[in-house]
Amino acid sequence: MRKTILITGASSGLGEEMARQFAARGHDLALCARRVEKLEALAAEIVAAHPGCRVEVRALDVNDHDQVFEVFRAFREDFGSIDRVVVNAGLGKGAPLGTGRFDANRETAMTNFVGALAQTEAALEIFRDQNAGHLVMISSMSAMRGMPRTITTYAATKAGVAHLAEGVRADLMGTPIKVSVIYPGYIRSEMNERVKNAPFMVSTEKGVTAIVEAVEKEKGSAHVPPWPWIPVGFGLKHLPLPLARKLMG
Ligand SMILES: NC(=O)c1ccc[n+]([C@@H]2O[C@H](COP(=O)([O-])OP(=O)(O)OC[C@H]3O[C@@H](n4cnc5c(N)ncnc54)[C@H](OP(=O)(O)O)[C@@H]3O)[C@@H](O)[C@H]2O)c1
Repeated sequence: MRKTILITGASSGLGEEMARQFAARGHDLALCARRVEKLEALAAEIVAAHPGCRVEVRALDVNDHDQVFEVFRAFREDFGSIDRVVVNAGLGKGAPLGTGRFDANRETAMTNFVGALAQTEAALEIFRDQNAGHLVMISSMSAMRGMPRTITTYAATKAGVAHLAEGVRADLMGTPIKVSVIYPGYIRSEMNERVKNAPFMVSTEKGVTAIVEAVEKEKGSAHVPPWPWIPVGFGLKHLPLPLARKLMG
């Protein structure tokens, strides 16, 4: 069993619910995000529900790259080892390119891709030293194709994350270090709380249950929930672009 799990972006949405569900399965948790008061409330809730569970929290802005390494190393000091890292922190800001919102697109690119790169480096530094560990990278169904409008940059960052994960998996094949990339469909969270009509949207709990099941199986890649996202993913990858863009709403 991967006893200790480090989750970034654990203060809301998928990260918060993953913490709850992994704790219920007997894991200890290292949780980080910028809103540390939300992490402290979550830790108190989890320890009350599962008194044997150890939860440590730390403030982390993944755009402060030195801090990413410091926080990951400090969690390892706390627990002695880190058995799984979930690279989850992410941002959904964005605007069509060329419409004056480079600031929003750049923030998404830096957080979702360069921030994920820093987290991957920090995680693998620990895993290589331990000669063990499971790296989990949260991509998105939007990574399947180039996407229009406000999610063009977001989708590109998630394709980048998926390729990073696959490259690391290729690099570490045959070693005790495992890598999984998760492609979630629409799951209710803070990121999409104002979105009314996202196709096939599921509750946070249902979506995260599918993520946690896939992660525990240590699959190389998983579309979650599998239905309808496996066939939708196939369609997104292979349909002509005018049809593919309609599938994502
Ligand atoms: N929900 C979906 O439908 C969906 C679908 C596909 C993929 N995803 C991916 O799932 C992941 C989690 O998103 P979510 O849906 O759970 O959204 P969310 O509720 O908005 O949560 C995002 C998390 O990321 C953290 N975060 C954002 N910027 C950060 C930064 N600079 N440094 C550290 N932490 C940061 C936030 O914490 P603080 O603000 O406290 O720092 C928060 O805990 C993201 O990578 C997202 O792209 C979500």
